[in-house]
Amino acid sequence: MKNYKIAVIQGDGIGPEIMKEAIKVLDKVSKKYDLKLQYQYADAGGIAYDKLGTALPSQTIKTCEKSDAILFGSVGGPKWDSLPPEEKIEKVALLGLRKHFDLFANLRPAVVYRPLAKASPLRQDIVGNGFDILIIRELTGGIYFGKKVLEENFASDEMTYKKEEVERVARVAFEAALKRNKKVTCVDKSNVLSSSILFRKYVAKTAKNYPKVKLDYLYIDNATMQLIKRPRDFDVIVTTNMFGDILSDQAAMLTGSIGMLASASLNDKGFGLYEPAGGTAPDIAGKNIANPIAQILSGAMMLKHSFGLEDESKAIENAVIKVLKKDYRTADIMETGKNKVSTAGMGTLIADNI
Ligand code: IPM
Ligand code: MN
Repeated sequence: MKNYKIAVIQGDGIGPEIMKEAIKVLDKVSKKYDLKLQYQYADAGGIAYDKLGTALPSQTIKTCEKSDAILFGSVGGPKWDSLPPEEKIEKVALLGLRKHFDLFANLRPAVVYRPLAKASPLRQDIVGNGFDILIIRELTGGIYFGKKVLEENFASDEMTYKKEEVERVARVAFEAALKRNKKVTCVDKSNVLSSSILFRKYVAKTAKNYPKVKLDYLYIDNATMQLIKRPRDFDVIVTTNMFGDILSDQAAMLTGSIGMLASASLNDKGFGLYEPAGGTAPDIAGKNIANPIAQILSGAMMLKHSFGLEDESKAIENAVIKVLKKDYRTADIMETGKNKVSTAGMGTLIADNI
């Protein structure tokens, strides 16, 4: 029997409630497909800060190092908002894990599932039969990790990129495109930024090794417009750390609810951190109303990308679609005439449909 060790970091806010549902679904998959999934729970985020004075305890890093993948909830919340910059919960926990494990490739799919086409804020003629965009965001370089200065009357954030950093994320994008619609759009600001000129240059060079994939380019400002105007024209988007941060939130909203979107952050060994895009949602935490689908689909991405379990991953995705087709909805995606279910209710329905 195949045995996989998963570090489970529930974090803060809705993290623990949606994680519980993801585990429920993974347990069902492991039964059906005869896998052994071993969960090692560890603390990070505000909960870790309160217990141990740091959002990323060394014990948590050790647990992750001993695991085959990290399933992550979300961290942070208003309780910790006034911490000084060097102790900021999200920065310490998330950016710390990204850097420590060299998780340079952030895959953020923005998919409109057919039963939810009406949930998109876009006009129906634009949404059509839905769209499926994969944003690949460089995650360990750029302005997030450049030298920082914060003085009384002066501040700066350095934005740098190296050839190798661009090439490795570009390869991930082209490889992904080969398995999809064979199109990559490079999004940058090379009309102004040197780091973007370099980014575009090495994306273009990498493209030479992938003659079957069509490559085009957009400046980030234009990309935000085109994404709204013609989302169905996009397949894979590859972009820098900060532009990917912004563009992926925009794409998320176009699908209707951020509560639906999973993500994977990978290094070159296939090790990854899997987390929902939605954040801790402190306003609805503990109410059993949050949408667990993003966390559940993050589990599906983990099975596929870190464990190579394609069928098992697909089984989860199909179960999600089935439950949506049967008209079950959490509050965030509720429409009149549908059946409203709780966080736990949605998790159970999805597990039952595996
Ligand atoms: C994200 C988040 C993080 C980021 C924050 C919480 C540091 O917005 O994962 O997109 O900016 O990368
Ligand atoms: Mn973000």
